[in-house]
Amino acid sequence: MSILSFDHFSSLDDAQCEERIVTAKATLGKRLVILGHHYQREEVFKHADFSGDSLKLSRQASLSEAEYIIFCGVHFMAEVADILSRPEQTAILPDLVAGCSMADMADLPKVERAWRELSEVMEADKQITPITYINSAANLKAFCGRHGGVVCTSSNAQKVLEWAFSQRQKVLFFPDQHLGRNTGYKMGIPLEEMVVWDFDKLHGGLSEEELKRAKIILWDGFCSVHQQFMPEHIDQFRATYPEGKVVSHPEAPFDVCQKSDEVGSTEYIIKTVKASPIGSRWLIGTEVNLVNRLAKESEAEGKFVHYMAPVVCMCSTMYRIDPQHLLWVLENLVAGNVVNQIKVLPEEAEQAHLALEQMLIVST
Ligand code: 13P
Ligand code: SF4
Repeated sequence: MSILSFDHFSSLDDAQCEERIVTAKATLGKRLVILGHHYQREEVFKHADFSGDSLKLSRQASLSEAEYIIFCGVHFMAEVADILSRPEQTAILPDLVAGCSMADMADLPKVERAWRELSEVMEADKQITPITYINSAANLKAFCGRHGGVVCTSSNAQKVLEWAFSQRQKVLFFPDQHLGRNTGYKMGIPLEEMVVWDFDKLHGGLSEEELKRAKIILWDGFCSVHQQFMPEHIDQFRATYPEGKVVSHPEAPFDVCQKSDEVGSTEYIIKTVKASPIGSRWLIGTEVNLVNRLAKESEAEGKFVHYMAPVVCMCSTMYRIDPQHLLWVLENLVAGNVVNQIKVLPEEAEQAHLALEQMLIVST
């Protein structure tokens, strides 16, 4: 059957989509798995067969037997699913516009330039392990694979950094400076030994001496969603609820993480709140869809969940995945058409696989 146009789906309301999604899923049965990141809106999240943080979902993608892996998340997640799955499996992203603005802050030409300029100051391939946060394009994971580097996620960054330092003395960490700094500091690396590489300046705007002294060279990237959280928000919460606890995602700025009781991945945040006693009160520094869902579930369990920022910090790209797009890709699969496949170039996928594989080994 010819490809069903999205035009026939865009005007459907969520309730109409819901019913048809359930039917299409049942028709496809075991041929399909839907993976849903914790930041997905409820109308989509409810259809996920597996939910989780980036690490958990990567593992799930590598273990899945399904012919089709629909990733309700963002572009780099579907790329990882494609790289870690078998060649005969197909990774699909319901809306191709669902990117990650932080991932876009590092690209291959800029990272290769940084590596060249670092090589002018030291023997980069002998002295520096490149680490890319999983929130990055496949060609950056391939770069790490080529240069003896590795991928990390928010839940294994410390283990990955420890491995990296067992290989070489220094680390180039991209694209998220906050995850790198928060993790490095927790490992005992002083702030003065973590410098920020400004990718618009020669040698990152750093002197030879600063580069030689640095243990971690942090890319000047960040998540605009987590950037909204501020230490004042924590102070206000603590003033009102002295017994309350605070948990933040490590993409939040350093001073926010320092003031938090707990710092961890999306999965960690959920587990921490779930494991807390009845009557607990939590302030949470991460994306609003996760927090709203957790607040609702926690209320039923006699716990109180508050959102950290006074303004809504939503990941607008995660929000691109809506029931209309999910239904559109599903009904096309039922009709025998694959739309929105994510396919990483074979050579790139092979090199990226090395860096992802290393991450999975280190984090077991
Ligand atoms: P997690 O791996 O903790 O789910 O984080 C992914 C992400 O993009 C957070 O902004
Ligand atoms: Fe990217 Fe931030 Fe959205 Fe996570 S929350 S997917 S880092 S833009």
